[in-house]
Amino acid sequence: MNPETDTGHIIEQKIDSLLTRMTLDEKIGQMTQVRHFDDISEEDIAGKFIGSVIHTQGPLPGNTAEEWQAKFRHLQELALSTRLGIPMIFGVDAVHGQNTFEGATIFPHNIGMGATGNAELVEKAARITAVETQATGFNWVFSPCIAVPYNEKWGRVYEAFSESTELTETLTKASVIGHQGTSLKSKRSVMATAKHFVGDGATDFGVEGGETSLEADDVAKILLPPYRVAVENGVGSVMASFNAMLGVPMHAHKTLITHILKGAMQFDGIVVSDWKGYSRFGENDVINAGVDMIMAVEGDFDMYQEGLKRGIEQREIPVERINDAVRRILRQKFRLGLFENPFPDSTLIAEIGIQSHRDVARQAVRESLVLLKNQNNILPLQKDLSKIVVVGEHANNAGLQSGGWTINWQGTTENYDGATTLLQGIKNLATGEIVYDVDASGKHGDADVAIVVVGETPYAESFGDIGGEMDLYQLTLTEAHQKYINTYVEMGIKTVVVLISGRALVTTEQIERSDAFVAAWLPGSEGHGIAEVLFGDYNFKGRLPHSWPKSEEDYKGKYGPNFWDDTVRPLFPLGFGLTYRMIN
Ligand code: BGC
Repeated sequence: MNPETDTGHIIEQKIDSLLTRMTLDEKIGQMTQVRHFDDISEEDIAGKFIGSVIHTQGPLPGNTAEEWQAKFRHLQELALSTRLGIPMIFGVDAVHGQNTFEGATIFPHNIGMGATGNAELVEKAARITAVETQATGFNWVFSPCIAVPYNEKWGRVYEAFSESTELTETLTKASVIGHQGTSLKSKRSVMATAKHFVGDGATDFGVEGGETSLEADDVAKILLPPYRVAVENGVGSVMASFNAMLGVPMHAHKTLITHILKGAMQFDGIVVSDWKGYSRFGENDVINAGVDMIMAVEGDFDMYQEGLKRGIEQREIPVERINDAVRRILRQKFRLGLFENPFPDSTLIAEIGIQSHRDVARQAVRESLVLLKNQNNILPLQKDLSKIVVVGEHANNAGLQSGGWTINWQGTTENYDGATTLLQGIKNLATGEIVYDVDASGKHGDADVAIVVVGETPYAESFGDIGGEMDLYQLTLTEAHQKYINTYVEMGIKTVVVLISGRALVTTEQIERSDAFVAAWLPGSEGHGIAEVLFGDYNFKGRLPHSWPKSEEDYKGKYGPNFWDDTVRPLFPLGFGLTYRMIN
């Protein structure tokens, strides 16, 4: 007999036995996820039989990884002290490394991983993320985001791999396998989450949580295939999305969640809601649509538990639905081996941010860089140029180079522990004089070359939408950043532009004016990887994961580049990327 099937069979028997013994309150508790610091008191963990804890923006569990582990160990002990002793699962938004813990290895955001096109590397990065995440006390990550973004105006384009469904499928597989390893029981594995199901990146005009008005055929052809791949590779959970699909909120979309994801695709793991998914999207309709666990945060906790109970008692929700939800949650807890081994492994702490992990992240940075222009082969730069001027605040700020979901939810504009910047990398490699002109006011007219680093400041979720409610960002460079480039170009200095951004920006004029132009995305903690390529220690390998717009006009329509017709051509197509001819 196949030992895997046998294990599965035994797990189902254990779940049957638990389900027959569980009270309604215990079942409701399993279906509840809370933050570790608000809404609830510690007594509630046991008293309300909480099934899961999320850590996200807000007070940290401590300063050191030891303190983080101790915090979650303590909460786990409370859960284990209950009548049935069901362990909790601990989830975190580790979306490019364990990015909530300062000192962890931070990888390029998924858009950069998409540019590498390197599945093996994506798998390795996910393995490392799993270890560093476990080392800080978690067994569940809300990653990867497997959206297929349609419009660069969406503030979460960088969380996804590519506008190409095919590339997204390939890297989804790598990411799920990397996070979960060959066994979820290993303390070096975490449960992964494919998110956000479905249509998050395909809303009209790129509005986060907006309306996705795609035909069912397009949803099936373009958006669902990465989910099928995730499920086939055993992804443990899927997160429902904030958007509505043809008028129906995804959290309440029974056809897509229950019939397609759980039915046709045979997904047997947990469907988790997104932030306050219960109160925002129709309360018990969300449960009836097939969501198994609710992020009951920021004031939702009591109303969720009470509303769910009322719904069951008044037969608005069939008891089979509750049993199915609890079965799925328990199944993953058994698969994670938490009944035998519920606590974090303290020996993993020594692996946080170690050199071998950073080497992989640095390789990812190098391979993610896309060379869009290289006039007269100005790149690679000679290391012995007598004077190089480096321009722009992004050149020497690890926070700015890392984007949202880094240290804080909205990212940081400061340097953080363990990271290196591009300027540091340049200083390490070049032997001549290096001057730093942060805002292009120094006017180093005697420099051999100017490396001008421009881009976006960090954002997450709707804060990054362009043209939405907040409208804090734009499709072009800021005037100040355009000026950095112009200042040096107009002085007649050879100018290499490095763009740090979460999406393709309209930079037609800047590309024209500069001698070389590199799209570096959001590289994360290993900024000096960029310098290694600029100086020719390595060749360029990255290929555009998105077609590159030529004008803002191209975005006037409902959709962006994924649906450009014959009248709208990108400046560079998907897959474009130059290389050095002379080396490897
Ligand atoms: C985001 C999710 C994230 C969740 C938990 C939500 O606002 O949409 O991607 O996993 O918060 O932090």
